[in-house]
Amino acid sequence: MNINSRIGIYPGTFDPITFGHIDIIKRACKIVDRLIIGVAENINKHTTFDTKLRTSMAKNEIKRLGIDVNVVSFNGLLVKFAKEQNASVIIRGLRAVSDFDYEFQMSWVNYKLLPEIETVFLPASEDAQFISSSFVKEIARLGESVSKFVPVGVQKELIDLNRIRSEE
Ligand code: PNS
Repeated sequence: MNINSRIGIYPGTFDPITFGHIDIIKRACKIVDRLIIGVAENINKHTTFDTKLRTSMAKNEIKRLGIDVNVVSFNGLLVKFAKEQNASVIIRGLRAVSDFDYEFQMSWVNYKLLPEIETVFLPASEDAQFISSSFVKEIARLGESVSKFVPVGVQKELIDLNRIRSEE
């Protein structure tokens, strides 16, 4: 890897990874030399899947796509993780207007913490405008297919999860 290579971090909860995330990953690969997916561990929201499973679902998708992207879980501040990985860019996907406020605040905080790392926003593709992990989990919990929103491996995890829940 060239010393001037541009390394990008695509951070998120990925609870679970969806076609919306995959759309951003594919497009982010075009603007950085190396992409690292950062799966956040200690976020202040409850996750359905633990870090290990969220990371392995993302890794499986990267493998299936056959792209050269690393998937790494991280704890603590995103900018600290980005610096450790020698990244100069944080990539975030933006869906419609609802994401704007939160994303702008987050990019501002990250810029204040570490100005040498820039946030780049990629607009979600038309097909992925309204996919969210929360919607996917709700649809799956209510027994409907989520094949339009998540890959097969993730569909299986959601089916298993809901089977376990219904047996409890
Ligand atoms: O997929 P998400 O839930 O929108 O991702 C949010 C995430 C994980 C990128 C964000 O919560 C994060 O960066 N967490 C790490 C802690 C941190 O750096 N917080 C300060 C910036 S808000």
